[in-house]
Amino acid sequence: MCQREFLLVLLVRIFVHTSETCTSRLNITTVEGEPFYLKFCLSSSEHESESNTIRWYKSNGSQGQVELNSRSLPRISLHNFSLEFWPVELDDKGSYFFQMGNITKVWNLNVVRRNKHSCFAKNQVISKTVEVEKTLKILCASSYFQGLIHRIRLYKDCEKIAETQDYKKIAESDTNPLIQKNAEFKDQGYYSCVFSIHHNGKVFNITKTFNVTILGDRNNIIPALLGPKLNYVEVELGKDVQLNCSALLNEDGYIYWNFQRENGPDPNVQEENGMRIRTPEGKWFASKILRIKNVNENNLNFSYNCTATNEADTDTQRYILLEKTHGTDLPGHVFTGGMIIAVLLSVVVMCLVILGIIYRVDLVLFYRRFMGRDETLTDGKTYDAFVSYLKESRPEDGEEHMFAVEVLPRVLEKHFGYKLCIFERDVMPGGAVVDEIHSLIQKSRRIIIVLSKRYMSDAVRYELESGLHEALVERKIKIILIEFTPISDFTFLPQSLKLLKSHRVLKWKAEKSLSYNSRFWKNLLYLMPAKAFKPAEGESEILPIFSTTEKLHGELSVSAYL
Ligand SMILES: *[C@@H]1O[C@H](CO)[C@@H](O)[C@H](O)[C@H]1NC(C)=O
Ligand SMILES: *[C@@H]1O[C@H](CO)[C@@H](O)[C@H](O)[C@H]1NC(C)=O
Ligand SMILES: *[C@@H]1O[C@H](CO)[C@@H](O)[C@H](O)[C@H]1NC(C)=O
Ligand SMILES: *[C@@H]1O[C@H](CO)[C@@H](O)[C@H](O)[C@H]1NC(C)=O
Repeated sequence: MCQREFLLVLLVRIFVHTSETCTSRLNITTVEGEPFYLKFCLSSSEHESESNTIRWYKSNGSQGQVELNSRSLPRISLHNFSLEFWPVELDDKGSYFFQMGNITKVWNLNVVRRNKHSCFAKNQVISKTVEVEKTLKILCASSYFQGLIHRIRLYKDCEKIAETQDYKKIAESDTNPLIQKNAEFKDQGYYSCVFSIHHNGKVFNITKTFNVTILGDRNNIIPALLGPKLNYVEVELGKDVQLNCSALLNEDGYIYWNFQRENGPDPNVQEENGMRIRTPEGKWFASKILRIKNVNENNLNFSYNCTATNEADTDTQRYILLEKTHGTDLPGHVFTGGMIIAVLLSVVVMCLVILGIIYRVDLVLFYRRFMGRDETLTDGKTYDAFVSYLKESRPEDGEEHMFAVEVLPRVLEKHFGYKLCIFERDVMPGGAVVDEIHSLIQKSRRIIIVLSKRYMSDAVRYELESGLHEALVERKIKIILIEFTPISDFTFLPQSLKLLKSHRVLKWKAEKSLSYNSRFWKNLLYLMPAKAFKPAEGESEILPIFSTTEKLHGELSVSAYL
């Protein structure tokens, strides 16, 4: 590359020295008012005749030939093989003859008027075309007058853009460009080099103008794919992958994917419609996706090729899928972070579960109230609970009796809207007591048993057994056990009670359980069927459950069996 450039420079120099400094063209046009010269091109064969005298003639139409010398015209000077004009004027138009021995050379010179409104003459421009993005160089070289130049100015469309008075730069002006840049469309225009020359104490200007045209490289760029020629793409089996191929193209260029195998393409590989947009430089930017769904072993280590092409050339890029090596797919910090989040989440979930267990009763009650749940509407039963208690009241059982007959109805019926069945109140005296009780229990959703040590008297035992039958055999009723006074020994209860699903014991201190909001009532409500009701308004949360005249002695202990 470097060598080739060097050679090029050398060739240009030779060209400049042989053809620019001597005047090979026969018909020449120049502009009035500028220094000008004609120089005979001496070929090697003509070298020997060098000693011959040289004569210059001018033929001016009808006037015939006139021999030229400095005396005939002060603006003209003769130097061996060249004829110089300081400067050339309109009436220098005509044919000029060079004569050396028997060699004659003739030129036809046309001198045009200077354009007063422009810094250059339109018919004196040198055309130059540069492709966009390629190097634009403006060399201001005038080899013949080289040594006389003391200043070079460069104009673009008659506006000065560069100037040099640097001797070295001027000396090298045939290789040292005043402008060197990547060509853009806006660089198009007329570039005029104006050389200022000293001669006999006067200053002359020589103007040399280039008409620079910037070519969009529409028709001659080669299609170029963007990115490396060989791409390895790491994929995970089973995942989808898309390969994106993009290129710079000409108008007529296009890109396509090549993914054919000998036995046809893989069914999970698909080329998508591409997109194509015009760039400001007049090229086309195109891209096309190759989509591989659910990557399998077959897709690995196969070369998917993207090709950009036009009539002149093609460019190809290869994409090869490799299986991603495991273990590297999660960076360490992501892994640790994930673990911490997982641990925190499980702690939070655990806490929620524990809270849910602790506050299960409250949650269920809240849920029932919130949803307005009512499971009593459709079962065709009359009572929410049948209250079973010791009926033959002795003085020491007074509190139990009062609890069953007064407190329970006051709280459950008046405050929470349940309907209880209490033997003393709801059963008419006389009649078949046993049948009556049995049918009342069948009409009830729960049976609340207020236990006492002497509970298992005959009449009550029947109630319990009938309830157990309903609960265990028919599964139509649930049993709620209330342990009113502390009982240390439950052996008097039938074994079948132990078959009930679960049982729990809550110790209830008298003082703490007075409020409707206390655990005792909440647990009781929890065991009672869900029922939609409006609590009576204006009732205080802490209402004395036992009337003030009654005196409660000692502790109240409650256990509920379900
Ligand atoms: C300069 O070049 C442009 C484009 O090639 C052309 O249209 C224009 O006529 C040229 N001007 C002259 C004065 O030659
Ligand atoms: C030479 O050109 C410069 C500016 O380009 C101008 O100022 C000066 O007058 C010109 N000289 C002649 C002799 O035309
Ligand atoms: C493909 O890549 C090109 C260049 O990076 C981008 O402009 C184009 O939006 C991409 N296409 C898709 C579908 O991602
Ligand atoms: C892609 O190019 C490579 C190398 O030129 C070639 O071996 C391979 O067969 C090509 N793949 C397809 C699908 O044409």
